[in-house]
Amino acid sequence: MTQKLPVLVTGGAGYIGSHAVLALADAGWPVCVIDNLVTGFRWAVPDGVPFYEGDIEDAGLLARIFAEQKIGAVMHFAGSVVVPESVVDPLKYYHNNTVKSRALLASAVQAGVPHFIFSSTAATYGIPDVSPVAEDCPQVPINPYGMSKLMTEAMLGDVAKAHPLNFCALRYFNVAGADPQARTGQSTAGATHLIKVAVEAALGKREAVDIFGSDYATPDGTGVRDYIHVSDLAAAHVLALEALIAEPARSLTMNCGYGRGFSVLEVLDAVDRATNARITRRMGPRRAGDPDALISDNRLIKATLPWVPRHADLDTMVTHALAWERKLGETRGG
Ligand code: UFG
Repeated sequence: MTQKLPVLVTGGAGYIGSHAVLALADAGWPVCVIDNLVTGFRWAVPDGVPFYEGDIEDAGLLARIFAEQKIGAVMHFAGSVVVPESVVDPLKYYHNNTVKSRALLASAVQAGVPHFIFSSTAATYGIPDVSPVAEDCPQVPINPYGMSKLMTEAMLGDVAKAHPLNFCALRYFNVAGADPQARTGQSTAGATHLIKVAVEAALGKREAVDIFGSDYATPDGTGVRDYIHVSDLAAAHVLALEALIAEPARSLTMNCGYGRGFSVLEVLDAVDRATNARITRRMGPRRAGDPDALISDNRLIKATLPWVPRHADLDTMVTHALAWERKLGETRGG
């Protein structure tokens, strides 16, 4: 059995990080969180999980956490994630995602932390020529967000060659849904992601959903994406950690998606099914920088990890997202 080393989760008060904390804790891993609470929420970290409010570029704080908690692995989620914002404020993204990742890595190397898991993104591929897209496809990001993450992938590759540390970079496709027990979910205001926007509309928090383009080269003309349930994604991180511990000389870079896509219209229909009502659709122009379809080739992760998705179903994802959105409205004033 894998020895359960204490894991530091950066960004553990955020959307994906808080699901990773639950997955680790549910699987019996000692876990603690660092988060600067700029976009995360203190309540998203469960009671009993040590919490450090602070920044990952604070070397003094990191040294203290690594020593105090005897950290054996880092899962790094902290960062900025809004693609259009990265276009208007690129330096924010190179700072938050690249410079701060470099600082965190330096602290991890300094403390001799042997394992590092990084949340990368399909945005590192840009607009791929092929679908599904495999890990060895060219990485040509079309926005600073994707480039800021790609630069961190590059740093990890070099650091793992020079220091006793192995890493796993997971390239996420479209993350959606919420914890099936509704312990956490996507809570940041001003969301732009389709499923979040659609459930907000279904609950009357928005008038309608704007459909960004209906002339794409897809079966119904709207954009196709590979939506992955956030709890399946979190489970993949726990398995990746076990793989890094089992083979310390091996690092991994893997897509994380289900390998199939749904169109915008299919997503909206699923939300309608879940509520038995109809969201108002507004057909609009394309959004800049959107590929027609973005679907993962997920053969590598399936061959490498014993990863069996448990919620790979659009209706399940939508149902969980809706349940969380309702809870957010009731208890958190969202
Ligand atoms: N869409 C709409 N209306 C909306 C929101 C989205 O029609 O209100 C469409 C988009 O045009 C796209 C699809 O729904 O076709 C999904 O869009 P999202 O904004 O939900 O997600 P993206 O595919 O643009 O981006 C996501 C993540 C990024 C990541 C990228 C690549 O948000 O962080 O996938 O993997 F970089």
